[in-house]
Amino acid sequence: MNPTNRLTTESGAPVEDNQRSQTAGANGPVLMQDHHLIEKLARFDRERIPERVVHARGSGAFGSFEVTADVSKWTRAKFLGQVGKKTDVLIRFSTVALELGSADTVRDPRGFALKFYTQEGNYDLVGNNTPIFFIRDAIKFPDFIHSQKRDPWSHVQEPDNAWDFFSNSPEATHQFTWLFGDRGIPRSYRHMDGFGSHTFQWVNAGGEAFWIKYHFKTRQGIECFTAEEAQRVGGENPNHHHLDLLHSIERGEFPKWTLQVQVMPVAEAQHYRFNPFDVTKVWSHKDYPKIDVGVLTLNRNPGNYFAEIEQAAFNPANFVPGIGPSPDKMLQGRLFSYGDTQRYRLGINHTQLPVNCPHATKAANYGRDGAMRHDNGGRGPNYEPNSFGDAPKQSNRPLYAPLEIHGWTGSHAWTKHPDDNDFVQAGDLYRLMDEPAKRRLVHSIAGGLGAVTRQEIIDRATGHFRQADADFGARVETAVKAVQASLKGEDVSVQVGASTHADALG
Ligand code: HEM
Repeated sequence: MNPTNRLTTESGAPVEDNQRSQTAGANGPVLMQDHHLIEKLARFDRERIPERVVHARGSGAFGSFEVTADVSKWTRAKFLGQVGKKTDVLIRFSTVALELGSADTVRDPRGFALKFYTQEGNYDLVGNNTPIFFIRDAIKFPDFIHSQKRDPWSHVQEPDNAWDFFSNSPEATHQFTWLFGDRGIPRSYRHMDGFGSHTFQWVNAGGEAFWIKYHFKTRQGIECFTAEEAQRVGGENPNHHHLDLLHSIERGEFPKWTLQVQVMPVAEAQHYRFNPFDVTKVWSHKDYPKIDVGVLTLNRNPGNYFAEIEQAAFNPANFVPGIGPSPDKMLQGRLFSYGDTQRYRLGINHTQLPVNCPHATKAANYGRDGAMRHDNGGRGPNYEPNSFGDAPKQSNRPLYAPLEIHGWTGSHAWTKHPDDNDFVQAGDLYRLMDEPAKRRLVHSIAGGLGAVTRQEIIDRATGHFRQADADFGARVETAVKAVQASLKGEDVSVQVGASTHADALG
């Protein structure tokens, strides 16, 4: 704050009048010389930046991560290196498909993006509240997202598009079953779990590598909205999740999550019953039990939303020594896409913004210049090799372990493992549900699928659910027919209820 309470121009000169523009005479036109007016309007004209192409709507908070168990036999990451160690974090929760101003209460995965400000650089873990994803290859991501967003002609979300894509992408059956189930609309960001979703690599001090999956288990308990509750709450207060997070932290009720990991020895990956790098699949918890790592606590709201949340840039390619990517084809695509979109959305020097720069160490390299550069390396050299002893030097130690690869380049189909197909885990998930949960799942699916106008799409989509489980498919078929009949105004005996576009689209 300005201690003198002076209103100033951008260059710090006092402003004479902030209520009346300068004019030629009392009733004459406005003068070019009113620099404050011109500057004020010009700044306002440029206030909006592009919103995130996905996950545009979100909320964030700061907090800390504390290690509660010794995991040093699996990773040499220093921030995980000793029990009791605390690291500052930033989290951003989000919905996926709709715009910055959309409602929090839609049926949609929720983003769960973390930035750990570690002493070895920032580690970004950019996950969701679901352990799986719709597709398994980054090359399908733009098409998938187009099918979920507004239609280029009608400019609304179209059930036909979303279900057409699904009906032609059987690998999405597991995620659709998850999304239309009870956890598809969390009651708040505090009442949901988070997942890294992909498989990642951990490497210990001896150079031994492991495949791992991250699980953040909410300590608030899982609580969800039914479709009807979400419709009511979203209608009354579209900012429900945002305000719930803000107010709970202001009240001193700090949400917490327990971080656990599943660890797979590298040698087991090749023969595991599912391809362990396929993000449409989970690893059985019986095969790979969850192991405690630490506790995440959120305890501080951002002081300014735009500066600290809208401008936050999470990038799955930001690893620290001891943690690395897996060959998951989705993750590999993401390693490119985030930095790329952030260079467009925020500019090349977004990494220097206070929320994005390292906090527990300093960035030091030979990158220079570009729009809005703040710290440009002073008199230090901007090239390498150089003969300055105090200039930045490479570590000669890889962050993570190398992968041994055999085979030919090409657009390969995914290698099948013994139990792999697109439907087996969706069927398992369906059979895990009790009868009321199955009914709610079928009700939600039918609400969306029943609104599709092309029968061939409905038949293909229903076929996926049938392949997951015959009973599941049969119930969806019956319920969809009931929705179709009710949309035509026919009297139906099976009441499956109303749905929203969001229900239809996930
Ligand atoms: C190849 C597949 C994917 C691509 C190309 C992709 C691309 C993107 C892009 C371009 C953004 C906007 C980033 C920004 O403007 O800062 C984004 C945001 C996000 N994505 Fe993805 N994404 C993919 C898959 C996934 C998956 C599988 C997950 C979760 C496991 C995920 C979670 C997120 C989250 C949480 C955000 C919001 C980050 C924030 O809060 O700023 N994405 N994604």
